[in-house]
Amino acid sequence: MNPARNVHKPLLFEIAWEVANKVGGIYTVLKSKAPVTCHEYGDRYTMIGPLSYKTAPLEVETLEPDSPELRLTLESMKERGVKFLYGRWLIEGAPKVLLFDTGSVYHKLDEWKGDLWNVAGIPSPPNDHETNEAILFGYLVAWFLGEFTAHERKTAVIAHFHEWLAGVGIALCRKRHIDVTTIFTTHATLLGRYLCAGSVDFYNNLRNFDVDHEAGKRGIYHRYCIERAATHCCDVFTTVSHITAYEAEHLLKRKPDGVLPNGLNVVKFSAMHEFQNLHAVSKDRIHDFVRGHFYGHYDFDLENTLYFFTAGRYEYRNKGLDMFIESLQRLNEKLKACNSPMTVVAFIITPAETHSFTVETLKGQAVVKQLKETVHDIAKRMETRLFEKAARGGDVNTTQFLTSEDQILLKRRTFALKRSTLPPIVTHNMADDGKDPVLNQLRRLGLFNHPSDRVKIVFHPEFLNSNNPLFGLDYEEFVRGCHLGVFPSYYEPWGYTPAECTVMGVPSITTNLSGFGCFMDDNIVDSSEYGIYIVDRRMKSIEESIQQLADQMLVFCQKSRRQRINQRNRTERLSDLLDWKRMGLEYIKARQLALRRAYPDSFDDEDYFGTLDEATQQELQRQEQRPKIPNPRSAPGSPRIRTPLEGVDTELTFAKMSIHDREKYLQYKMQGHDDEDDYLYLDDQDAQ
Ligand code: UDP
Ligand code: G6P
Ligand code: GLC
Repeated sequence: MNPARNVHKPLLFEIAWEVANKVGGIYTVLKSKAPVTCHEYGDRYTMIGPLSYKTAPLEVETLEPDSPELRLTLESMKERGVKFLYGRWLIEGAPKVLLFDTGSVYHKLDEWKGDLWNVAGIPSPPNDHETNEAILFGYLVAWFLGEFTAHERKTAVIAHFHEWLAGVGIALCRKRHIDVTTIFTTHATLLGRYLCAGSVDFYNNLRNFDVDHEAGKRGIYHRYCIERAATHCCDVFTTVSHITAYEAEHLLKRKPDGVLPNGLNVVKFSAMHEFQNLHAVSKDRIHDFVRGHFYGHYDFDLENTLYFFTAGRYEYRNKGLDMFIESLQRLNEKLKACNSPMTVVAFIITPAETHSFTVETLKGQAVVKQLKETVHDIAKRMETRLFEKAARGGDVNTTQFLTSEDQILLKRRTFALKRSTLPPIVTHNMADDGKDPVLNQLRRLGLFNHPSDRVKIVFHPEFLNSNNPLFGLDYEEFVRGCHLGVFPSYYEPWGYTPAECTVMGVPSITTNLSGFGCFMDDNIVDSSEYGIYIVDRRMKSIEESIQQLADQMLVFCQKSRRQRINQRNRTERLSDLLDWKRMGLEYIKARQLALRRAYPDSFDDEDYFGTLDEATQQELQRQEQRPKIPNPRSAPGSPRIRTPLEGVDTELTFAKMSIHDREKYLQYKMQGHDDEDDYLYLDDQDAQ
């Protein structure tokens, strides 16, 4: 490494398959983190990803490369046939992005596969499209970094790679001695995801898996080799939670240097309770959907209806869809047994292969829309007649104002609401209805939206966007309108979905096997007091966990509206904990460590943070001293017994990088509200 490089204002490249390319949570990491990283690095920051001609033109504005080094590098690559798009990603922070078209170098695939085998011993079978893409992308990134650092010789360069799909570049940087310092953040392990999706007792056997054998058995040995090479070739290895750090240590055979938990870009409304109003607005839209979907059986009271949902990629066991459905059935029985006035509509939002919406689902929305329009027209005509009559001082008896024609029209519309079938449990025609695990379990448990059921089901096998003809809501608006998010994951390195609920002030249920759940448990004395319920899937049997989840949902159903509003306020108050302004500090630590490891001679003291500006140092120090969030003032203290996962080691390198000793249990002031304040915003109806 060239010791002459300036480590005080380094350049930063962040490399991932999900840059301006939405797949799952890694896209959320990159997009939501952009404002803080841009703030810190300004024009020294660029993200590198693959070029998708479908989405990039909508997401990225083209720019001319500004620095001579970048221009020279890109011109030279272009001359040799590489296609790319350089520009600004049109998101908050407007980070610069460099997107490579892997298709433009497809003819190189065989040559590069051979090279990968020769330099790193990584095999690659012919027909794994995803791996082929990862190889092309990795070679392009290494090509770029190699040429760029040959032109730019004065400044240190940090290359931060995410996930195995970007991992080939790390191995090449090491083998080619490219003068960059590398960080690898894994957001899961390949083996972990595969093993958990089967019926393995994963967490109790982590130490014992024969990793090569297991990877081979599942046909992912070559992918595993890329992931493992990235893990061992990077300067700093990190992951997103302690539980995944433990997993990585055993499955990838390197103990991570630290944990980079995921944050969110928290938007504070000027009116503190604006998020409560947004809940009411979105809930009304969900009400509209429900009236349509349940037409003919719309015999429950929307004032006493709660909306629960789960959402995420369709990983039946990993995302805990199995447990959610099983617990819903228990909840149904419990609500019936206690004659509860409440109805729960449970939405399952997860993309599966489908052939569009069912006729029945679309019809439901259409007949109710027609009814609404008819009632509106009739009401207008009645209004005119009523006004005329009243203006003449006549006797005003409203029944006279509904004409016989209108009565017939109304009758026709209400006849259209009759149906001989139950409201459907799924909104789409499934490509393989008979084999779908969600549908099969709903059928097995008899959850068919019968009028006597207190728990109704709507399986929507597609992600939401605002063009959706059923809800007309995008995902965020939908979440705001719901009462409770339920995410009982078995395998979840972080889990953005409950975190997103939290910053929107929507309570959620997660598990102690998810990175998010463990993080909240570590930071809050009793997270359930703040609307974050954690199912124990670590120490309890499956049956006990199902019961616990059903009980947590039941407790939620027993809350009054006033209690729900209050709880939402508390949940929303946790937002600061998840803000990138705070979480981003761990990224700062990782980058400092990477620079130290690559350029040790450029640092003349033991102070890891000496090169950071004073404000950042102070913030790091403040966070180091932050104790757990206590119970809300009005909530009773509750003693807790911790159940640590055997072997999980939270003392990673980062933990030892504290500037000062931790001063635990200082009183941390949560944005300073008394619970009493919450009631200021209750209206008369709420107070019932
Ligand atoms: N998501 C979405 N639309 C939906 C459901 C989910 O955009 O209808 C997003 C959600 O906002 C979250 C991401 O998908 O940011 C899922 O991330 P998570 O970390 O929960 O799981 P992953 O898919 O990465 O395993
Ligand atoms: C928000 C609104 C209130 C509304 C309440 C409904 O707090 O500001 O006006 O009454 O939501 O809460 P619920 O839990 O019944 O949907
Ligand atoms: C992965 C994990 C998910 C995590 C996301 C972002 O896709 O499955 O739990 O939230 O990455 O780190």
